[in-house]
Amino acid sequence: MNSVNFTLQHLHSLRPRVSNVLEGKSVCLRGFELADASKILEHFNDIEIRRFMDMPAPHSQEQEEQWIRNTWDARKIGRCHYYAIEHKQSTQLIGGCGLFSIEKINRRGELMIILYNKEYWGQGFGTEALQLLLQFGFKHINLKTIYLYTHDTNKRAQRVYEKLGFKPGGRRRQASYFEGTYHDLLYYDLLASEFLD
Ligand SMILES: CC(C)(COP(=O)(O)OP(=O)(O)OC[C@H]1O[C@@H](n2cnc3c(N)ncnc32)[C@H](O)[C@@H]1OP(=O)(O)O)[C@@H](O)C(=O)NCCC(=O)NCCS
Repeated sequence: MNSVNFTLQHLHSLRPRVSNVLEGKSVCLRGFELADASKILEHFNDIEIRRFMDMPAPHSQEQEEQWIRNTWDARKIGRCHYYAIEHKQSTQLIGGCGLFSIEKINRRGELMIILYNKEYWGQGFGTEALQLLLQFGFKHINLKTIYLYTHDTNKRAQRVYEKLGFKPGGRRRQASYFEGTYHDLLYYDLLASEFLD
């Protein structure tokens, strides 16, 4: 096989077979809608919510709507796949998660998650949402590596990532400014071959 054929076949295997809704037991992941912007903002500017998100400035409604539009455009070219996390029983939007900075040749993507409403923390919803997202990333869009950065003080998130099989891989020292000081970011990654479905 020549290298051009190899590259074409390789890229073909990465063409997203995207399902719009990813169904779990307690949560489902769906695309963001503009109507979600106001719901997100009800909680998003809470300092406790933003503390770990590497976003020092508060967001406005316009910024949030623009971000949602950007997620649609980025999905079309396979650069990002962001999902709203909906609590199935109440049908409430409770969070967002996604894969971004997707590199097709390297087959890697960065992961993010946030549960906007603190009332929903600590009930397993974050772990379940990420299990669905990892399945999507590894099985549907054929990523080889999914990685993330998290604040060194974010013990809850680290526990979630470790439960899912992520391995710690290093530290970016003083890489994130928040609340008047610089925090270290920890790097974690998970390979497709390590992912337990
Ligand atoms: C991080 C986040 C997504 C986790 O979702 P969640 O639904 O609250 O997490 P889960 O309930 O699935 O799991 C939490 C785990 O952390 C553990 N935990 C909670 N607080 C902890 C702490 N201070 N130290 C260590 N572990 C902790 C829980 O016991 C649980 O582990 P267990 O199942 O072994 O008991 C959510 O809390 C959130 O959105 N936080 C704010 C934004 C954020 O930090 N995003 C991640 C940025 S990298």
